Amino acid sequence: MDFKLTEEQQMIQAAARDFAQREIVPIAAEFDRSGAFPVATIRAMGELGLMGIEVPEAYGGAGLDAIGYVLALIEINAADAAHGTIMSVNNTLYCNGILKYGSEEQKQKYVRPVASGEEVGAYALTEPQSGSDAANMRTRAVRSEDGSHYIINGKKSWITSGPVARYIILFAITDPEQGAKGISAFIVDTDKPGFRRGKTEPKLGIRASATCEIELEDYRVEAADRIGAEGEGFRIAMGVLDAGRIGIAAQAVGIARAAYEASVEFVRERKAFGRAIGEFQMIQAKIADMKSRLMAAELLTLRAAWAKQQAQKTGERYTLESSAAKLFASEAAMYITHQAVQMHGGMGYSKEMPVERYFRDAKITEIYEGTSEIQRMVISRLETGLR
Ligand code: CAA
Repeated sequence: MDFKLTEEQQMIQAAARDFAQREIVPIAAEFDRSGAFPVATIRAMGELGLMGIEVPEAYGGAGLDAIGYVLALIEINAADAAHGTIMSVNNTLYCNGILKYGSEEQKQKYVRPVASGEEVGAYALTEPQSGSDAANMRTRAVRSEDGSHYIINGKKSWITSGPVARYIILFAITDPEQGAKGISAFIVDTDKPGFRRGKTEPKLGIRASATCEIELEDYRVEAADRIGAEGEGFRIAMGVLDAGRIGIAAQAVGIARAAYEASVEFVRERKAFGRAIGEFQMIQAKIADMKSRLMAAELLTLRAAWAKQQAQKTGERYTLESSAAKLFASEAAMYITHQAVQMHGGMGYSKEMPVERYFRDAKITEIYEGTSEIQRMVISRLETGLR
């Protein structure tokens, strides 16, 4: 076993850290307050190769591996989780989804502009009545008689980057009799008629990552823009989420690391009863528990990224590694940011320090791309074989 990073992995980690600390840290609080989408920094991240890290250079990406992606994502999230969310959905749910399941023509047409950061990509699975129970969707795609296209009608909700995305991977029912096996995946171009954006969600955290409802009314999609075969959509949705959940684990590690580092600095400086508060045992116990959980979360996340890399060679699933990393890292981030606020006392509750933002941002990692309850269900089903 070798924990040493390759030269390429160290380079992308350093480049992401440098950009995040220089360009994102100074603007993060302001974008959190306004909720505006950070267009300029996202474009700049595209130019640096951060919006399509694992995408081969032939399709406009940086051509790096899954571990390099996780390392870069941790750095961006340690600066600001809203930028991290946009980056994660763009890289994994969108680009990797098409790379893994799409045709050569789709890769050429739909991956390049998004991997380079010129356009933003999104992923639409959730509907108002179906979040955790993802197969219970209602959006319907009806194929034309000559088979050349489909007409899609329906509503999707909680679409990350929905307000700005040019292209969206969208899941719809093509055969209502078949349940999960009657779902298909499509690439939707938001510039085409029949596509509408609904209300933008006012969120607790990751506020600069825009989220909205979308509606399709007699939206026409060419059959060539279906990803995979008819009926393969649910398997594609789940396969894409296996990769996506590693991204959310990395996000949780990044947020947790920022909260932990702020706490270490604070307990060294802050005095109470004539001593640095870091000299009190109750604070020491918190620091030790935070650090141990942070290290464990980081290792599980890197292990899942490594499993994903192996899977690219073997074709095996890495669902267990991905769900375990997401479950553990998101709960660790919630614990660590909670302790960080507590240790900072009144300053932890103030918007003058970033720890209250870390605390708000961490919460979403236990919810999106499958709640902690869903991750526990997935892990238990895999381990016991029982449903
Ligand atoms: N890879 C490949 N195939 C998979 C799979 C995976 N990871 N998981 C399931 N499948 C297959 C199953 O093998 C099964 O196929 P067979 O019948 O041929 O065996 C089929 O899919 C149906 O699977 P299940 O019977 O397990 O389906 P289910 O209805 O019980 O649901 C679930 C399973 C795990 C609960 C799933 O619905 C789920 O993950 N729910 C959470 C949804 C979610 O994460 N939503 C997040 C939305 S995206 C988001 O948040 C993005 C964002 O904006 C940032």
